[in-house]
Amino acid sequence: MLALDRDPQAVAAAALRFPGEVRLEVVHAPFARLREVVRERAGGRPVRGVLLDLGVSSPQLDAAERGFSFTRDGPLDMRMDPTQGEPASAWIARAPVEEMRSVIAELGEERFARRVAEAIDASRRGTPITRTVQLAAIVEGAVRTREPGKHPATRSFQALRLHVNDELGQLKAGLDAAFEVLAIGGRLAVISFHSLEDRIVKQFMRRKSSVDPVYAGLPHVPPQAQPAMRLVGRKHKPSAAEVAANPRARSAVLRIAEKIAAQGGAPA
Ligand SMILES: C[S@@+](CC[C@H](N)C(=O)[O-])C[C@H]1O[C@@H](n2cnc3c(N)ncnc32)[C@H](O)[C@@H]1O
Repeated sequence: MLALDRDPQAVAAAALRFPGEVRLEVVHAPFARLREVVRERAGGRPVRGVLLDLGVSSPQLDAAERGFSFTRDGPLDMRMDPTQGEPASAWIARAPVEEMRSVIAELGEERFARRVAEAIDASRRGTPITRTVQLAAIVEGAVRTREPGKHPATRSFQALRLHVNDELGQLKAGLDAAFEVLAIGGRLAVISFHSLEDRIVKQFMRRKSSVDPVYAGLPHVPPQAQPAMRLVGRKHKPSAAEVAANPRARSAVLRIAEKIAAQGGAPA
C-alpha cells in the first residue's frame, strides 16, 4: 500500500502509527505526483485501488500555528505543505483586489466577495495582515448577512485555503493520474467535502463512464470512444450516527467508479 500526503506532519504521524509495517509505504507527495510515485515505488505496476481522501485533516484544523482556523489565533499560513509555495499572508499582501475578489467569489461562493476584497485591501494599506483572527475580524466586518451556525469568515477562509493549496487543480491532476495508474477492474474511490470538489469528481466519473458524444447514435462506436469506467453505486453520505460521532464528516460525499478499459469515455 502506498499512502501519499503532502503534509510532512501527516507523513510523520503515519510512520508512528504503523511502525514496522512492511506492506505500507508513506510518501511525502501531492496527489498530482501519483503517477511518478507509483513508477518510483512500485515499478509502475498497475494498482488495484485508489482512494482520494480530500481536504484538510483535523490535526491541521486544530493546530493554531498551521493558520487554517478563524477561531484560533495563529500565523495566516494555510499551507498543507509548509515546505512549498507561499503562505496565505504573502498572497493576501500582494494579490490585486480583483484577483482576491474572484478567488473569494469562486472558491468561497461568497456573495460579499467584493466587499471582503475591498476591506482586506483597505486594511493591508495600514497594517500587514499576518494573523488568522485579524483576517477573520476584517471579513466579519465586510459580510452583511449571517448564515445560521456559520462564522461569517467561513467562506473566505475556505476560498483562501483552496487557492493557497491549489486544491482543485490538484484534484483534477490526481483524478487523471489515478485513472492511469489503475489496473483494469481496479476502483477509484473519492471522498470530497464540499460541492466544488464533488462537482469535479462527479463530472470526471460521468465523463469516463459515457460514450464519446461525437459517436452518439452512430451504429459503430470505436473502442477508444466506449466508456472507460463503470459507476459503482450512487454517491454515499455518512449516516446520522456517523455525523453524530464525527461532526466533521457531515459534508462528506463518497463516489466510486471502476476502470473497465485503458482508454475511452467522453473527452474533457
Ligand atoms: C481529510 S484528511 C484525511 C487524512 C487521512 N486519510 C486520515 O484518514 O487520517 C486529508 C489529507 O489529505 C492531504 N491532502 C489534501 N490535498 C492533498 C494533495 N493534493 N496531495 C496530497 N495530500 C493532500 C491533507 O494534507 C490531509 O492530511
